[in-house]
Amino acid sequence: MSKKIWLFDTTLRDGEQVPGAKLNLYEKLEVAHQLKKLQVDIIEAGFPASSEGDFNAVKQIAQKVGNTDDIMITALARAVKGDIDSVYNAVKYAENPMIHMVLGTSDIHVEKKFSKSKDQILQIGVDAVKYAKTLMPQVQYSTEDASRSDFEYLWKTIEAVMKAGATMINVPDTVGYAVPEEFGEMIAKLNDRMKNLDDSVLLSVHCHNDLGMATANTLAAIKNGADKVECTINGIGERAGNAALEEVVIALSTRSNYFDAHTNINKKEIMNTSRIVSTLMGLDVQVNKAITGDNAFAHSSGIHQDGLLKSRDAYEIVSPTEVGLDDMELVLTARSGRHAVKNALEKLSIGNIENEQFEVIFEDFLKLADTKKEVYNHDLFILVENFFAKTSKEANAKIYSDQFYQLEDIQVISNQILPSASVRVRKGEESFKAATVGSGSIDALYSALQQVTEFEVKLMEYKISSVTRGKEALGKVKLIVEFEGETYIAKASDTDVIKASALAYINAINSIVVDKFLSIPKPAPATV
Ligand code: KIV
Ligand code: ZN
Repeated sequence: MSKKIWLFDTTLRDGEQVPGAKLNLYEKLEVAHQLKKLQVDIIEAGFPASSEGDFNAVKQIAQKVGNTDDIMITALARAVKGDIDSVYNAVKYAENPMIHMVLGTSDIHVEKKFSKSKDQILQIGVDAVKYAKTLMPQVQYSTEDASRSDFEYLWKTIEAVMKAGATMINVPDTVGYAVPEEFGEMIAKLNDRMKNLDDSVLLSVHCHNDLGMATANTLAAIKNGADKVECTINGIGERAGNAALEEVVIALSTRSNYFDAHTNINKKEIMNTSRIVSTLMGLDVQVNKAITGDNAFAHSSGIHQDGLLKSRDAYEIVSPTEVGLDDMELVLTARSGRHAVKNALEKLSIGNIENEQFEVIFEDFLKLADTKKEVYNHDLFILVENFFAKTSKEANAKIYSDQFYQLEDIQVISNQILPSASVRVRKGEESFKAATVGSGSIDALYSALQQVTEFEVKLMEYKISSVTRGKEALGKVKLIVEFEGETYIAKASDTDVIKASALAYINAINSIVVDKFLSIPKPAPATV
C-alpha cells in the first residue's frame, strides 16, 4: 500500500531566512492560511526567540491557522531553555502544537561552533528534549549537519533523544553536501535502527540545495524509509534554498509506480501558493523552475507543439491542470509551426479557412511573431480579419478588431504629491480617454486603463524585469489579473517600461474579450 509522507513546510522559517524576504504579521498569516489550504501537515511558523515580531506572528498563526486538528503548528528553538519557552508560549494556542529544536552533531559543529565535547553536546540535547516534554507531548529534534556527522555519533544522539521522548527525528543536510545514493543509504540505516527502537517516532529529512540536489536527496530519503520531509514553496531558503515542496509532491505523484508513496497535498493549490509566496516575499521564481516556473508547462518549439497536438504524452508528463493552472499552453512564437497556428485558430472557432488562405495568414503570422515575440489570441483574430479585408471585394465590417482595445497614448506623472496618469485607447472607431491619480504611477495608470476599458479586473501580480542589458534595456512586464473568478496572464515588452506596463494591461483585457465575448456569438470569417 502506498505510504503517506508527512509534509512539513518551513517557508515561514527557513524560507523567510532569505535576505529581504521578511514578511510582516499580516503577510505571514496570509501565507499560513494558504499553506493550510494546500493541506500541508505541519507549518513551521518561525523562530520566536529571534524577535518579538516573530514571536507574535507564530502565536497568531497558532491561534488563527492552527485552530483545527488537521494541521500541526511548530516553530524553531535552539536547545536552550529560553528558546524552548518562547516556542512553547507561541505555539501552545494551536490544537496540535509541537516544539522543534536543533543542535549540531557534526565534528565541525560540536568542536568548532560549540567548543564542547561530543558527550557534552549529547547531554545538552537530551536535557533540552526532557525539558520540552514537560511542556508538550510533540517534540522534534533536528541533528544539524547530520550528513557530515560521524554516523555512530549521529545514531547515539538520535537514540538518546528518542529515549528522552522526541517524537520526530529530523536529519538535515544543512549545507547541501549530500548526494542521493549516499544520503539514501544513511537514511535506510537510521530508519532500520529507529524502527527497532520505537516505530512510532517519525524519521524526517531536511535538504538544502547548495549542489542542486535538495529534491533528489529528499526523494532518495523517501525511497529509503523517511516518513516525513521538510520543504519550502518554490524551494526558497537559506543560501541556495531547500527542497521545493512542489517538486517533491509532483515527483511522488508522477512516479508513484517507483516511490509507492503519496502526500496529502491539495495539488490544485500549488500554483496559487507559489504566486502568493513569490509576490509577498518579492522573490521571483526562475522561469524554467520545475513545476512553478513560468515556462514549466509552456511549449514553444514547433516540433514539440506539433507532437503535443498529435499526442499530449509525447512531451507532457504532468498536466498543468494538476497544479491549478489552465490547460496546456502553446505559446505562439515565430518558432511555432503551421499545426499549432491552425489549432489555435480552430480553438477560437475561426474556422472555414481554406488551405491556400491559411498559407497567407500563416505568412502574416510569422511576420507578426518576428516583431512581437508572443502572438496572442486577439492578434490571431486581427490577422484573420486583415486577411479577409485585403482579399474580399465586399465591404468589410470590422467584426473582430472593433471589439479589441488598442493603446493610443499615455502620460504618467510620478511625484510625491499626486502620482497621475492620462490614457487614450481605441476600440473600433471610438477613442476613450481618462485621467486618474493613484498611490503610485502604475496604480494611477492601471486605474485610468480600468476606467476606459470598463473591466473590473483585480491585479494579482505585476512583475517587471529587463530582457536586455544597458540603459536602453528592453523592459518586460508580466501581469496576472483576475476577472470573474478566472485568471489571465499577459506580457508585453518595450524600452519604455511604463508603456510596457500599459501594453501588458491591454493584452490582458483583450484576452478577457476573447474569452468572454468572442467565444459566444462568432461570425464565420467567410462572411467577413
Ligand atoms: O538546515 C538546517 O539544518 C535547519 C535546521 C534548523 C533543521 O534549518
Ligand atoms: Zn535549513
